[in-house]
Amino acid sequence: MNDDQPICLCFDVPKRKVIQFIRTERPKTPSQLSECFGAGTGCGWCRPYLKQLWESESPESETLPEADQYAKDRQEYRDAT
Ligand code: FES
Repeated sequence: MNDDQPICLCFDVPKRKVIQFIRTERPKTPSQLSECFGAGTGCGWCRPYLKQLWESESPESETLPEADQYAKDRQEYRDAT
């Protein structure tokens, strides 16, 4: 996934926006990332990935799955829940 692709597919929030939010707002908990355009407040699929960025010393360097695979896995997650 590149930085312009959505990490939260429910609310179309790009990875870049989440990283910027972490850098500027310094959220104390990963759940506060919901203040970034609602990230993580839909199906919940992206929450582990949001947490991964939040926990990282260098969120820009975090590797996330390729966008196609990410979307496919999310669909399977949604179908199963
Ligand atoms: S993909 Fe983020 S809440 Fe559904």
